Formats: sequence, structure tokens, C-alpha cells
Amino acid sequence: MNIVIINGPNLNFLGIREPDVYGTQTLEEIETKIEEYAEIQKINCSFFQSNSEGELIDRIQQAHLDKVDGIVLNPAAYTHYSYAIHDALKAVDVPTVEVHLSAIHTRESFRKESVIAPACIGQISGFGPTGYLLAIHALKEVIK
Ligand code: DQA
Repeated sequence: MNIVIINGPNLNFLGIREPDVYGTQTLEEIETKIEEYAEIQKINCSFFQSNSEGELIDRIQQAHLDKVDGIVLNPAAYTHYSYAIHDALKAVDVPTVEVHLSAIHTRESFRKESVIAPACIGQISGFGPTGYLLAIHALKEVIK
């Protein structure tokens, strides 16, 4: 099973960015833990982060061309307004789990809506970096 973990804007600043909300681990440290977990699960995973909407869309389209089995996506702030990312997920039809480190439904009202979730098989929010592992577990269960 091949999956891609895609992270959106400002997540390259994890560890620096609002540690009280997003924790102290860097994206690199989180990716190392994901890699370790995926290895145990016999899953190949690749990683991608971008601050730009177009690059995230290109990577989602590439996932289709590469015939990956699933996507774990933290669209960051694009969650709340990127119809273009929503459309990209619909276009490729690769099973996708949306992940958020923070509990978006308990925060500012603009974070409560995800325009991405309707294009995903599910959403995981509020478990910090463990959310990525839960998403991989969920994808594995759905795909098998
Ligand atoms: C986030 C939540 C978003 O609302 C925010 O814009 C982010 C990170 C999260 O992981 O909790 O950048 O996706």
C-alpha cells in the first residue's frame, strides 16, 4: 500500500508556530514518527508540504497519476476556503483522510467549516500528531 502525506501552509513552521495550539514537534519530527509507524504497518509513504495552493493541487493530481492508494491531507487554512483543493480531490477520487492537529470545531468560528471534508472519506481533528497515525490506520482499514 502506497500513501502520500500532504501538509499545507505554515505547517513547515510547526515547533515555532503557536506551540500552545500546535505543540512543539517540528514537521520533520512528526514525519519521522509517521514513517516509523508506516513501516510497522508495511505501508510506503511519501511526504509533501507546500505553502501554495497550486502546488498542493499538483501533488494531489500526481497522487492519481502515481496510482497511490490513499492520501492523508492537512490542508491547514485552505481547509476553510479552498474549493480548488476540494475539486482536485473530487477529480482524482483517491481515498483521502483530512487531518488537523488542533480541534478545529472548538476554535474560532471560521475554522468550524471545512470545504475539504465533503471530498474526503473522513476527518480527524484534535489529536495532535497522533492524528496522522489514526488517519493511516483508517485508510488501511478502508482500502483493504
Ligand atoms: C490546522 C487548523 C487550521 O484551521 C489552521 O489554519 C492550520 C492548522 C490544524 O492542523 O490544526 O494551519 O489545519
